[in-house]
Amino acid sequence: MSTDEWKIREEAPGDAGQVFEVEAAAFETPAEAQLVDALRQQVKPTLSLVAEAGDEIIGHVFFSPLAIEGDVAPSVGGLAPIAVRPDLQGRGVGGALVRAGLERAPRLGWKAVFLLGDPAYYSRFGFELAAPRGFHYVSEQFDAGFQVILLEEAALDGCSGFVRYPAAFDAL
Ligand SMILES: CC(C)(COP(=O)(O)OP(=O)(O)OC[C@H]1O[C@@H](n2cnc3c(N)ncnc32)[C@H](O)[C@@H]1OP(=O)(O)O)[C@@H](O)C(=O)NCCC(=O)NCCS
Repeated sequence: MSTDEWKIREEAPGDAGQVFEVEAAAFETPAEAQLVDALRQQVKPTLSLVAEAGDEIIGHVFFSPLAIEGDVAPSVGGLAPIAVRPDLQGRGVGGALVRAGLERAPRLGWKAVFLLGDPAYYSRFGFELAAPRGFHYVSEQFDAGFQVILLEEAALDGCSGFVRYPAAFDAL
């Protein structure tokens, strides 16, 4: 397989098996792969993108709707999980998946996207820590990795609080 040429596209019917394999290979357990299967069934709208080399899926990213607790808040999305086949990491595939997702996210009505991850990686796409803006994941204990990117200027002005993920994330 030539891995020099790959493209990003939306997940199509029939991709779920290969997506499961990529997610399961990239993480230590199949929990993230199972999460994607559950989210596909349980939440809407979602955004699922794959990176494809030839007819093989080599990377995947999933976005779900999140809810900001408390205030009247705009629609926002969450990026999770993201995975690139271990032997093909470090070639820009993950970055291309993140950027393609952020480009499409406004079409789902989302004004911002949150994620839990390493700021050393995600800051390059424009993500910043969410806690200084008053947003938290489950508890303040996660503040160092909980990040947000605004897709519209001032999108989150006047709102703050805990950000709730779909119930399927409880299984992680
Ligand atoms: C995270 C992941 C999707 C990135 O995909 P990728 O195709 O390797 O990413 P890219 O090629 O676009 O970027 C590679 C860069 O990201 C860095 N990077 C990757 N994961 C990182 C992490 N967790 N923390 C900090 N930097 C990270 C690499 O060191 C590399 O840095 P460089 O550009 O300075 O050399 C991939 O490494 C992966 O599947 N990891 C296992 C699953 C995982 O941890 N998912 C994220 C959970 S939040």
